[in-house]
Amino acid sequence: NTTPIQDQLKRPIRDLRISLTDRCNFRCTYCMPKEIFGEDYAFLPAREMLSFAEILRLTKLFVSLGVVKIRLTGGEPLLRKDLPELVAGILSLSGVEDIGLTTNGVLLGQQAKELYAAGLRRLNISLDALHPEIFGQMNGRGLKPSLILKHIDQARELGFEVKVNMVVQKGVNESEILPMAAYFKERQITLRFIEFMDAGNDNGWSLAKVVTKKEILQNLRDVYELEFLEQDFYGEVAQRYRYKNSDAEIGFITSVSESFCSSCTRARLSSDGKFYTCLFASGGMDLRALLRSGADDSRLLNVIKDVWEKRTDRYSDERQEHTAADRKKISMSYIGG
Ligand code: GTP
Ligand code: 5AD
Ligand code: SF4
Ligand code: SF4
Repeated sequence: NTTPIQDQLKRPIRDLRISLTDRCNFRCTYCMPKEIFGEDYAFLPAREMLSFAEILRLTKLFVSLGVVKIRLTGGEPLLRKDLPELVAGILSLSGVEDIGLTTNGVLLGQQAKELYAAGLRRLNISLDALHPEIFGQMNGRGLKPSLILKHIDQARELGFEVKVNMVVQKGVNESEILPMAAYFKERQITLRFIEFMDAGNDNGWSLAKVVTKKEILQNLRDVYELEFLEQDFYGEVAQRYRYKNSDAEIGFITSVSESFCSSCTRARLSSDGKFYTCLFASGGMDLRALLRSGADDSRLLNVIKDVWEKRTDRYSDERQEHTAADRKKISMSYIGG
């Protein structure tokens, strides 16, 4: 057991969120609006993306500095070929306690079984509505929810622990809060309501479009009795509640109304090997350049350690304090949600 390194605000490094690609087969309006991510959008060429060997080498170094939780994300991580190999590789690293995958679920039909066989047990699946038109409009591809719902059921049957992520936007899918709650309560699948965030520079965010935890909870409490659950571990992102007389839970990710930077233990690695210390960072440390110029492990370790120990990021806190400068942020599909 490693004592994790700490940043300037005494936050230990505990999680590594690895983005496996900046591409996605969806064009969610809040993440990759199709007006911007069109036919001619310049995604990263293959040679600029980290290979699995490079990802494993870096992951091992992060683990030696205190990381215990790994999350695979994107873009859409299932677009990456041979993903089960990477999962097995990460799980074979000593010190890794947990690995999860965040996906839109479209490609799970083909891949869920092999991912389970490789040792993956946790899936966070994005789904913003049950209503076909609303979902189709939000995912930018007109895809119906039935396919995702089928994949969720199949994943459960295979033995996965599934959570569903719903980004709530004012005037867009608020009407889906209660139908989604009812559907997933019945299946005892945790549904997490995510406040619409100002990620990237091009998702049309404004405070007026955010539906806050408070509003969602009020909406739910008109129908259900809910009890607050204490945090499971330091730095947990979601605030959890349980329905009275049921084992079903819901969660809230309140990046806008109740920021959680003071216990943020998350490091991020983009698919082209940049190390970011905040979801809203404007720049990252280019670890790929170091790797490919022949840096040895001790050099890489020193660089990672140095970046984390200098870290002061607390963007969501600053947004709340209205001190967040109008800065250029990188897009969420690139850095990984
Ligand atoms: P587990 O709790 O381990 O299941 O995963 P998670 O909730 O951390 O991961 P997931 O990828 O499902 O993320 C859910 C939502 O939380 C997404 O909208 C993320 O962008 C958001 N999120 C995760 N980490 C952070 C963070 O450090 N800061 C902010 N602002 N949002 C985050
Ligand atoms: N605000 C909130 N959540 C977002 N996600 C993507 N973009 C945003 C945004 N602007 C969510 C996705 C997915 C998770 C990884 O991040 O819906 O569930
Ligand atoms: Fe793709 Fe997820 Fe972004 Fe939607 S939110 S465009 S599914 S990466
Ligand atoms: Fe962590 Fe940055 Fe999110 Fe705050 S805004 S919780 S520092 S990633």
